Amino acid sequence: MLFWRVKPLDKILETAEKKSLKRQLGATQLTLLGIGAVIGTGIFVLTAEAGQKAGPGMMLAFVIAAVVCALAALAYSELASMVPVSGSAYTYSYGVFGEFTAWVVGWALGLEYGIGAATVCVGWSGYMNGLLAANGMALPAWLQTGYFAGGTFNLLAFLIGVAVTGLLVIGTSKSAKVNAVLVAIKIIALTVFIFLAVPAVKGDNFEPFLPGGWGSPMGGVGVLGAAASIFFAYVGFDAVSTAAEETKNPNRNIPIGLIGSLLVCTVFYLLVGYGAAGSVGAQPILGPNGMPLDPGTPAMAAACVGSEALVCSHEPLAHVMRLLGHNRIGDWIGIAAILALPSVILMMMFGQTRVFFTMSRDGLLPDGLSKVHSKFHTPHVITLITGAVVSVCAALLPVGRLADTSNSGTLLAFAMVSIGVLVLRKTQPNRHRPFRTPFAWIVCPLAVAGCLLLFVNLSMTAKITFVVWAALGLILYGLYGYRRSHLANGTSAS
Ligand code: ALA
Repeated sequence: MLFWRVKPLDKILETAEKKSLKRQLGATQLTLLGIGAVIGTGIFVLTAEAGQKAGPGMMLAFVIAAVVCALAALAYSELASMVPVSGSAYTYSYGVFGEFTAWVVGWALGLEYGIGAATVCVGWSGYMNGLLAANGMALPAWLQTGYFAGGTFNLLAFLIGVAVTGLLVIGTSKSAKVNAVLVAIKIIALTVFIFLAVPAVKGDNFEPFLPGGWGSPMGGVGVLGAAASIFFAYVGFDAVSTAAEETKNPNRNIPIGLIGSLLVCTVFYLLVGYGAAGSVGAQPILGPNGMPLDPGTPAMAAACVGSEALVCSHEPLAHVMRLLGHNRIGDWIGIAAILALPSVILMMMFGQTRVFFTMSRDGLLPDGLSKVHSKFHTPHVITLITGAVVSVCAALLPVGRLADTSNSGTLLAFAMVSIGVLVLRKTQPNRHRPFRTPFAWIVCPLAVAGCLLLFVNLSMTAKITFVVWAALGLILYGLYGYRRSHLANGTSAS
């Protein structure tokens, strides 16, 4: 069943040739594009969540998540250089496994990008609320966090979702220059943080090192639970592959962009994690059973009232600076996050709309979704639907739950890409591979195992949401895509 309705890779490539986007991005721009999409809520906000799950052991979580991502990036590089077209994992799956798997992957990418965008909206609101409060203009508490995070309605998360949707409808997309400036802002903010926090590290703050243990079979706690959440911090490097059609010499530059951006981010994250945990401590708030409370729950919210702990902060990097006595710099780090995170939201929402747009063009989703606005030339219908869902989710849900749910979709996509590399090595051994995953028969299975390990360690809510989302997707495919597929009906060559 897995191998039915395969869209031949040559056909996919031919379509891309026809569209002929201008090839103008080089290795540096691609790496910047990757860094721009990667550094966001993960490091700026989820550091607190990781601390609550793993304590100072969250540094190990950063390493584990980085290793899984690096393995997947090596696999991504092979497919992205072989099939340098937009659409990323959805398109590859259509060409490797066939329509059914492509549908599953595309549907999972909806979760990755859509819920990922909502996650970054909530992360942004944490910093904005913090800045307002620091300047005596705090919103009422009930408007600062979502209903399922101990508040009522996260107004700022909702508003930033609406604003980014508006920008996407009128056609603002990634501009390489603006991206370079935002990347510089983020890198400067993290560098300043590292320079001030690392010298303040005290050995005592690392004791106990693993208060949450390694993890539990139910997931959601310990080092592995933290790794499954903090994985979100690395997501986005695959955005590089979505720019494949616009890349000069994609064979060389895409692998450099993918792996380069991941490497830069990993170095920064490890230093930030070390500085944060070592300077002010990252010990979790424990529940009555002596185990860390589940972050994002009302119990945690209640325990955090009036607490100065890092794990309670919605703006942990700014908070660390303030605790270390650098109030002004804390404000500036907040401003850096406030300026830079919207571009991550934009990137993720853009990814979501383009994947569903492509699926609709392939006949797997209703045609109406790929309608293009007559004046703005953007897929406004799918953008507005996406924007509404993203904004409402951001207004109601806690950041960690959203991140975990987004990760569930990403992990599936990464695993499928890694399997895809091996399938193509068998089925099309002679096809030109500008970049070959080194030791593919070891690297790809390890990537799949890593994705599985992280998936199991996601919070239970995220796993259940994933299953419900997948079931919905299967029903939709059975009722709609299966019958209406252009590939099956020979109705379009898109
Ligand atoms: N990696 C991106 C972030 O952390 C999605 O916001």
